[in-house]
Amino acid sequence: MCGIVGYIGQKKAYPILIKGLKRLEYRGYDSAGVAMIDTKGGLNVYKAKGKVADLEAFCEDKDISGNAGIAHTRWATHGEPNSANAHPHYSASGRLALIHNGIIENYATIKENLVARGIQFKSVTDTEVLVQLIEHIMVSNDLDLLEAVQVALHQVIGAYAIAILDREHPDTIICARQSSPLVVGLGEDGDFYLASDASPIAEYTDKVVYLNDGDIAVMRLGEKLKVVNLDNETQHPKVKQIDVTLGQLEKGGYPFFMLKEIFEQPNCLRDCMRGRINVEGDRITLSAVIDFREKLAGARRIIIVACGTSWHAGLIGKQLFESLCRIPVEVEYASEFRYREPVIFPDDVVIAISQSGETADTLAAIELARQAGAFVFGVCNAIGASIPRQTQTGVYIHVGPEIGVASTKAFTGQVTVLSMLALCLANERRTIPGDVYKEMVAELTRIPEKMEEALKTNEQIERLAPIFTYAKNCLYLGRGYNYPVALEGALKLKEISYIHAEGYPAAEMKHGPIALIDSEMPVFVIATRDKLYEKVISNIQEVRARGGRVTALVTAGDEQIRRLADHVIELPDTLECFQPLIASIPLQLLAYHIAVCKGKDVDRPRNLAKSVTVE
Ligand code: M6R
Repeated sequence: MCGIVGYIGQKKAYPILIKGLKRLEYRGYDSAGVAMIDTKGGLNVYKAKGKVADLEAFCEDKDISGNAGIAHTRWATHGEPNSANAHPHYSASGRLALIHNGIIENYATIKENLVARGIQFKSVTDTEVLVQLIEHIMVSNDLDLLEAVQVALHQVIGAYAIAILDREHPDTIICARQSSPLVVGLGEDGDFYLASDASPIAEYTDKVVYLNDGDIAVMRLGEKLKVVNLDNETQHPKVKQIDVTLGQLEKGGYPFFMLKEIFEQPNCLRDCMRGRINVEGDRITLSAVIDFREKLAGARRIIIVACGTSWHAGLIGKQLFESLCRIPVEVEYASEFRYREPVIFPDDVVIAISQSGETADTLAAIELARQAGAFVFGVCNAIGASIPRQTQTGVYIHVGPEIGVASTKAFTGQVTVLSMLALCLANERRTIPGDVYKEMVAELTRIPEKMEEALKTNEQIERLAPIFTYAKNCLYLGRGYNYPVALEGALKLKEISYIHAEGYPAAEMKHGPIALIDSEMPVFVIATRDKLYEKVISNIQEVRARGGRVTALVTAGDEQIRRLADHVIELPDTLECFQPLIASIPLQLLAYHIAVCKGKDVDRPRNLAKSVTVE
């Protein structure tokens, strides 16, 4: 939530900052702002409600000169989205400007003290409290900015990634992180870049430093990057090679990132399996399983912690681990798990799933599991993010940056990694016969091709979508492996089209939701041929009998359901456990086209942000 960008060097700062904000806009987009030291040494802050484009329009007649600046795109936590609450925030004297991603939990107490000392506030944000506190400490104790930041951050409880500009020291940006991501880019000419993730930095340098919790970085022109902690002890973070390409950050001719990312899935899954499944396509090797074989294969229980779409992937993982490995699995919302005093055993394996690797609740769940002595395994997409760094081992899904707020390729990447892990462990534990293992691995390698087949439904779905734009409510039904697909389909529709949608296990419908069904209620049923096929047909009959309008996802050639449903979408056949990888595609496309028909901003749905770094 909230995106941070900074630059200091020989180039003009403004274009770098604006471009960087656009790359980070997925993190928040209710207001944006920029602070720059101009060529005359003034510290200018410009802010606007709305998207980065609104900020750009606002800056058209402003002084945007200068080679040092910080910028921010906001996802509101404290105070409504308006220009007063937008970042950067000035200190009382106007000497400092600060941007922040995170939440200062004890801001109210700090603010009370500052107000008592006569400091006035222009916004209702927790962030302004921090910049006022830093300046107050600096002035009243005659400290330099770094010292004041260290003292201030000792007083702060909460999560932050911050960056500060000081008018008196225009050659320096200071930034710090605690529980919110921050990456520093090291340019060729000694210039410095700063961002919430590597995407705004990628086109300027491939050398980055991922800051750790408690780090404070001083970027001063003409000097090497200096990193210290709150007690001024020097830190030695590693310089890493950046992992994203520019092509991955552009829309590549698609109108929205979401559509691009839906269509990328076959290749993403190939990337995800590359080097892990041998060329013969009959063996999976995961280095995490080699390194921690006993821990993983000997797990007494698996607990999966995740949020949102990643939690849905976890529900599929549960069925995979239970049926293939015969290990009991619990799937927990990280936000509930962290506060529930759960029973955790030292021989439990906790699997944390997260696209961004920065989700605050999932990070807290990991911490809790580690304290209880469990072994923690991460399934993550963003390289170098906090979750892979705080887990003992794990597997990257390698699907490339996901920019659309609605998760698509990350979901199928997560399910693919969980499938590989379950097969690997089942093979280690000998819970499935060798020939079954080989056949399943071979089928997994065929999934990208089958996804390409499933993507051919795009035109049909585009034609169907306008029929559903009137809907106020939709029901998604599925059973077994397709139940999480129903949940995920409903979530996709909700978040980008703002149509209320519920996912339900098809057989549960008669225990309540059936009361909602009438001719106004579109019902999407995942009814591919598997062991529960006949039972799902009965569920379709129950919907039809109440006037419900059924759109069914079926296995290619299914004539029986064609006679029952209003619309059918045909999908290639695969093993039941891999069906979610195929069946989720038409549901992603459906949500996408309905949202487009309704004129919604698909990549930046209201109230949402890509990376939920607050609890
Ligand atoms: O980055 P994470 O996978 O940890 O994010 C978890 C959820 O916030 C995320 O999946 C969210 O539900 C998506 N917007 C759904 O499309």
